[in-house]
Amino acid sequence: MARKPNKVIWITGASSGLGRSLAIAQAARGNRVIASARSEDALEELAALDANITALPCDITDAASLETAGARMAEISSHLDQVILNAGNCEYLDFPDPDWAAIRRVMEINFFGSVNCVRLALPMLRKSPGGQPHIVGVASQVTAAPFPRSEAYGASKAALQYFFDSLRIDLASEKIDVTVVNPGFVDTPLTRNNNFPMPFLMDVDRAASRIVKNIEARPRSYSFPLRLSALLFISKLMPAFWQKMVAPRTERAKTQSNPGVGK
Ligand SMILES: NC(=O)c1ccc[n+]([C@@H]2O[C@H](COP(=O)([O-])OP(=O)(O)OC[C@H]3O[C@@H](n4cnc5c(N)ncnc54)[C@H](OP(=O)(O)O)[C@@H]3O)[C@@H](O)[C@H]2O)c1
Repeated sequence: MARKPNKVIWITGASSGLGRSLAIAQAARGNRVIASARSEDALEELAALDANITALPCDITDAASLETAGARMAEISSHLDQVILNAGNCEYLDFPDPDWAAIRRVMEINFFGSVNCVRLALPMLRKSPGGQPHIVGVASQVTAAPFPRSEAYGASKAALQYFFDSLRIDLASEKIDVTVVNPGFVDTPLTRNNNFPMPFLMDVDRAASRIVKNIEARPRSYSFPLRLSALLFISKLMPAFWQKMVAPRTERAKTQSNPGVGK
């Protein structure tokens, strides 16, 4: 039986991992999903799974690509009810001679890319007929504690959290809600590059279904799994102990090549 589309939702980073699962889950609920990423083939495969999903390829770091995507988005829908800004990448720094440029590359995607998307989406969110649009930003629990080699990734997600927290205040008078989602470790192409133990690693579809369910109430933030949040809280209570606990990972990881590059 045909489902009546409910919300119009733009999801970035939908070609793989969390974004792909979020797109499938939101479409299955009868929402109309506009799915973005750079990999056109993967987006077409995704769109073929559900008539409620439309592929909208774009590079969120590229102004021209975003402008084209914005024009195409306006043809697909007159408005947006929700955006899930999920596109992201991770590169680790390897000391003593790190690739410092990695910090700028990661910031460009994770932070400035999401800012670009907010700028593009706002006029369409303001036209939401329901009058209560929702911006969802995917950050990370990495910001709850310092991790070795995570200078680029952690800083980009901390910047993103602050951006969304501040944005929430400025958009409140327009009744635009902002939620920051902080996942723990989820089994996706991104984390499959990691060579260190990932406590409480979650299945990607399970993680996506938790996100979809929990953002419904539009909380300021949603961090999961709770067991990881509790573990990371140790770093605040006992920072010296935390440093000792995670430091050996740096030595082990030195044998690993920079995993996120090129994603
Ligand atoms: N997996 C975890 O454990 C975990 C934990 C906390 C937070 N997160 C966050 O969750 C989000 C999704 O990550 P994931 O684990 O699902 O990784 P993933 O499978 O590698 O997905 C990343 C997505 O971002 C897209 N992307 C990257 N650069 C882009 C660009 N310049 N323009 C447009 N799209 C771009 C990728 O598509 P293309 O390459 O096709 O462009 C892909 O669809 C990220 O923000 C990540 O930081 C993940």
